[in-house]
Parts: sequence; structure tokens; C-alpha cells
Amino acid sequence: SENEIPAEIKLNEEVSKIYTNNLLNFPDYHPIWQYLKKRDINRNVAEEFELGYALGSEVNKVIEEHYFEKDIAIKAGLIVNDKDFFYNRLIIPIRNNSGLLVGFSGRLVIDSSNAPKYLNTPENQYFKKSKILYMYYKTKRFIKENDFAIIVEGYFDLISMYKLGFKNIVAILGSSFTKDQAVDLLKSTNKIVTMFDMDDAGKKATISTIDTLYKTDFQIAVSKYPAKDPDELTKKHDKQYIAEILKNSYKFHEFVVDYYAEKYELTNDFALEQYLKDMSKWYTKLEKAGRLSYIESFVECISKKIGKDKQYVKKILEANRS
Ligand code: UTP
Ligand code: MN
Ligand code: MN
Ligand code: MN
Ligand code: MN
Repeated sequence: SENEIPAEIKLNEEVSKIYTNNLLNFPDYHPIWQYLKKRDINRNVAEEFELGYALGSEVNKVIEEHYFEKDIAIKAGLIVNDKDFFYNRLIIPIRNNSGLLVGFSGRLVIDSSNAPKYLNTPENQYFKKSKILYMYYKTKRFIKENDFAIIVEGYFDLISMYKLGFKNIVAILGSSFTKDQAVDLLKSTNKIVTMFDMDDAGKKATISTIDTLYKTDFQIAVSKYPAKDPDELTKKHDKQYIAEILKNSYKFHEFVVDYYAEKYELTNDFALEQYLKDMSKWYTKLEKAGRLSYIESFVECISKKIGKDKQYVKKILEANRS
């Protein structure tokens, strides 16, 4: 029938069982558990997030034992070039927003080769990164309860924050927040706080997320915190401290003002001119999107940033209107 679970998903479930058993059967002194211990992940947490380990000899055994067609394993991305796609990697299962197990991510742990840190299931009919919010199927009820969602970049950011009690959280799978993800999240809340990494890539992802969402019904806040990413933040600070960080998040237009100010450094007139051109673009965007309630405050932020009065700033922004 139409409601039947696709074979690819069933196969993913079977293979995932082997991955999780592999991990749980390793003794505490195994390097992978030593690694997880350093990251503050114990056996209970590993079970809760269905973490596993791929040795690279699992998939053929599973398809023989359970009579799957090899073609299904290929379609699921579990077999590529006749070999297991995942080997010698810590496995993070990825369920879609309805809870179906659509793919995996594998993290390099012991191997120090120059292979990518994370390897994801190749995109297929069911595994579409741009449509999935990691753990949303499980956290949507907490997001509704709190009426806001924390958005982080990575799996471990989510796991660490969740463990501390911040359960109204989702992770994008790298890159930035997409329209499809927004549409799904909007069913649970229209308030988000981004907590992307504090590096250049994270800041770019924040700006691009704002660019995707400023026209929508979302109220976007951006948090800034003294650590590389939320995972590291949870290792350095306690729950109260992080709650305070979230409460003191910036409004998105404040982030825009700061982001470009950092980019141009504003040490000379030319830089200031470029800066104001970019600010004009955002001014126009907010105007066109009808986000008039933000415009006053946007102009005020810029005026404070460059130490010129509001009327002057407004005149320049409107003169440069695109
Ligand atoms: P980061 O590079 O910030 O990694 O990528 P991380 O989450 O902090 O990972 P750890 O702490 O070193 O283990 C953020 C997210 O981007 C995706 C993953 O979803 C990752 O969690 N990513 C990153 C990839 O898909 N592939 C990569 O090679 C790197
Ligand atoms: Mn079985
Ligand atoms: Mn990052
Ligand atoms: Mn990170
Ligand atoms: Mn990290």
C-alpha cells in the first residue's frame, strides 16, 4: 500500500542496528569510547542518539540475511562501487522530519587521513539535506512548548545542548538554513535563535539565513558567545550562563549592522562609503519586504556604529536606494 515503509528505509534501519551494536559492544577502553568520553558522550547518550560505528563489512551481510535486493542498498547509498560507503567512521543516523531513517553521517575519529571529517549519505529520493532538520522529528514538541527554536550547525552542537536541557533545538546539516526547512519549522514556531559557529563560515551562514528569512513571518535572533561552537560552549559554561546568552541574543538587523562593520573595518572614508552602500541594500530590502517596524531601529544601530546622527544616516541610505 502507499503507507508502506520503503525498502531503502527498512534497510537503513537494519544496517543502523548493526552499527549501534558495533559501538555498544566495544569495551570502554576502545579508542572510539575514549574519543566519545572526551566529548562527554556516555553509553546512555549514544543510545539516545542511536550513535553507531561502521566497520565497513555490514551492508552485504544485512542484505543477505534479510533478503534485500542489492539494488536497494545502492539506491540507499549504502553500497557505492560495490563496497560499503561507510567504513571506520562513527555513525550518526539521520531521520527526516517525520522520523524516517533516511541516511547517515559518518565522522572520522581514529583515522587521521585527509578524508573529509564528515561523510554523508549521497543525496537520493529520501535523503535530501536541504529538507531535513536534524532531530526535528523528536524536538518539535519542545519547540512548540517553548515557542522558539535554537538552530545550530552540527550534530554535536545539538547533542551537547540537548543534554544540558536545551531540547527546543534543531541542527542544519552544515551550510545554511533553507526555505524548505523554514516552512517545516514554521509549523512549530515563528521564533528562532541562531547559534551558528563563531568562525567566518558560521557568520556567513548567519547572514545567508537572515537573507532567506527576513521576508517571512520569522522573528530572527542571533546569539554571540565566547566559544568556537555551542558544543565547546557547553564544555566551558553552565546552563544558566547559556540561557543568559540566549536571552541576550541580538535582533537580526543588529547582527547585519555589526557583520558588515567588521567586514569593512571602517577605518577610512572609502570603507565607510562601501559599508553604507551595503547598508542601503539592506535598507531597501527591509523596505520592499514591508518590514517597516525594523527600519527605525536599523537606522539607529548604524548611526551608533558610525557615530553620525540618525537623520544624516537615513538621508544617505535613501540616496543610495537600489
Ligand atoms: P563543523 O565543521 O562546524 O563541525 O560543521 P562540527 O559540527 O563542529 O564537528 P566536530 O565538533 O568537529 O565533530 C558543522 C556541520 O556541518 C556538516 C556537519 O553536519 C557538521 O556537524 N559538515 C561538516 C559536513 O557535512 N561535512 C564536513 O566535512 C564538515
Ligand atoms: Mn536483524
Ligand atoms: Mn562550523
Ligand atoms: Mn563547529
Ligand atoms: Mn564542534
